[in-house]
This record gives sequence, structure tokens and C-alpha cells, in this order.
Amino acid sequence: MKTIPYGCQWIDGKDIRAVSRVLKGELITQGPVAEQLERQLCRITGAKYCVVLANGTAALHLAVAALDLEKGCEGITSTNTFVASANAIAYSGLTPVLADIDPDTFNVTPESVKNKLSRLTRVVIPVHFAGQPAPVKDIRKVVGDKIKIIEDAAHAIGSVDADGTPVGACKWSDMTIFSFHPVKTITSGEGGAITTNSRELYERLRVLRVGGITRNPREFVSPFDDPWYYEMQYLGFNYRLTDIHSALGLSQLSKLSRFIKRRREIVAKYNRAFRDLPHLKTPLERPNVFSAFHLYVVQIDFKALNSSRKQFVSELFKKNVGSQVHYIPVHWHPYYARTYGFKRGDLPVSEAYYAKALSLPLYPKMTNADVAQVIRAVSSLCK
Ligand SMILES: Cc1ncc(COP(=O)(O)O)c(C=O)c1O
Repeated sequence: MKTIPYGCQWIDGKDIRAVSRVLKGELITQGPVAEQLERQLCRITGAKYCVVLANGTAALHLAVAALDLEKGCEGITSTNTFVASANAIAYSGLTPVLADIDPDTFNVTPESVKNKLSRLTRVVIPVHFAGQPAPVKDIRKVVGDKIKIIEDAAHAIGSVDADGTPVGACKWSDMTIFSFHPVKTITSGEGGAITTNSRELYERLRVLRVGGITRNPREFVSPFDDPWYYEMQYLGFNYRLTDIHSALGLSQLSKLSRFIKRRREIVAKYNRAFRDLPHLKTPLERPNVFSAFHLYVVQIDFKALNSSRKQFVSELFKKNVGSQVHYIPVHWHPYYARTYGFKRGDLPVSEAYYAKALSLPLYPKMTNADVAQVIRAVSSLCK
């Protein structure tokens, strides 16, 4: 019997045909299909501009780099995230400052961000953990207009905030980043994107994506107009998303609402089945928000079950159910402890959350039989 993984892509014949059309054409690196994907991401989020990139980490890196912030300043993000959100701050020579989370939503709060503000803070990266929109509007109120906000929406394409604003619209933020890794809501194999409403940031991001080089004569600093001439104006990177990947991303994007609908159906089944289990808390969706539910994270009191998480995970695995833990607090990682002096105990809510967190299988391709198998396995271990 196959083990049900905690997350998995869903590729169909339409996706395969879209990719093979690009492969049969002349241009396989970034080209018109990537532009089509950018236009479609603008349409879905409501943002004015979009650049697609090699992955979500590259998107975070470029978003911070495009702000051209002074080295030695600080950037705040959640400690309950994949390390890429914090690494992006460090890549640009800023000091990552980690904020604690709300015990119910597992996201940073306006207060936890406020606690970490200093005269050196230049950027805040709230993470829409598991798909649940973080309170960006209230974070903007707390940080004012001068500090930049980059939303990490790697988990949240298709999520909608409390006032009906789609995540990625950048209504209160400067930029939003997405990831199209295979376990995410839609995939392009690997891939990422940044949305923004700022023309200036958009143009800088486009140049940074291709080595800091421009080929547009109107942007040249030097008076050359030879046909081969190009100029490197910034220290850029090669973060292009190929048309091969973009074709998959575009095809997947057309199924976004179907994928989210199925995810939410599974979440509803789990919530119903686990409602009365002792020592297990189901995830909370804040009132009025719409979560795309990238992850289904339960809180289990393993001690009360006379178990440990390791034992629980291994028992689940014996019942052919995979699971995962999101996330080890960023400040616990040796690099962060060594470089920035973080210690265990620094962010107690995140640490208490981590001790009980477990992500159960959630992906649209799951059959009802798979869902029932997960429910049986978890219920039997929580008695
Ligand atoms: C919250 C968060 N931010 C950023 C990333 C980085 O995305 P990618 O894996 O596409 O580089 C991830 C990926 O796991 C993530 O979960």
C-alpha cells in the first residue's frame, strides 16, 4: 500500500500538452509564455505588475534587493516560516529580526511586529502561513509608511483577506512573493513570482532578474546605440523562469479555484472528523478571511497522549500516512543562533506551537478514500 504524502502536485494531460507545445517551439527560455503567466497573475491578484522568477527564494531575494536598503539595517519576519523568508533579509546585508506568532493563526501580529521595531527597521516580511492571510493592513498601521512591506505568500495564492482583497494585490504592501514549488497550491516545477503596484520596483526587478542588464536604448546611461550594445546597471542575477516552466504554471493557474475548492472540502472533512478528539486542535480560519489552505496543521498534545511526536509520526507512517512539521523556528537553526545570537526560549509562542505542530496530508489529488484513511489513522492514535 502506498504512503499518502503530506503534499503532492496534480499534473494532468492539459499540463503536459502545454509544456510539450513550448518544447516543440523555438524559444524555451523566458519568453512570451512567461509574460502570459505574469499577465494572468496580475489578473488573479489585482496587482498592476508581476515578474515571474526561478523560485520563491529568488523572488524573496530580488524583492529585498530591489529596495536597495542600507547594509546593517534590520528586516523583521516570522520565526514560523521556511528559512528563505529570513535568508532574503540576510542576503542583502541586513540583520534578520524574528517576531513571535499568534497562538491561533500561527502568523505574526501587529503587536509582535511592533515589539521588534527599531530605528534600524527598514522592511517587514509577514508570511501568510498555511494560506491564512496575515493582518497586513494592521501591520502597515503599526509600521507607518516609510518601512517597506513584502508579503511572503508562498502558501497563499488564491487566499483573500478580510476586506475581500486577494492576497498579492499589494494594497498595503510594496510587493508580494509567491512560490510554485510542487507542494504549493499550483506548481511550475520550480518557480516564483513577485507582484507590485510600483512601476519603479517592477522595472528594477526586471533588470535584476537578468544580470542587472538592460537592452533598452531608452534606459542607457552611455550614448551608444550599436545593435549589440547592452548595459549592466545593477548587480543582478539570473533568476529567469523558462517558458517550459511558465507553460506548466499557466496551465495550473487555470485550475486554481478547483484546486482550492478541493483543498477546502478535505479541510472540512478533517475538521468534522477531528472536532471531538481529545488532545488535538484543528486549525482556525480567522473570521471573514478565505484561506487557500496550503497546509492542514493540527496541534497535538503528544505528552497528554503518552506519546512523542516522533513516535506519533512513526505510527502514522506504519498506517501509510505521511506527515511533516512546519516549521522548526528559524531562530533555532544553528546558522541563525551562531550569526545573530538567537537562543531557545527567545520566541516562546512559536516554540510552544512548534512542540505540538503536525501537518497532515492535504492536496487536491487526494481521493475520499485517502482522506478516510488519514482520518482513521489519526483518530486511532488520538484515543
Ligand atoms: C513561506 C515560504 N517562503 C518561501 C519559500 C521559498 O519558495 P521556493 O521553495 O520556491 O524557493 C517557501 C517554500 O517552501 C515557503 O514555504
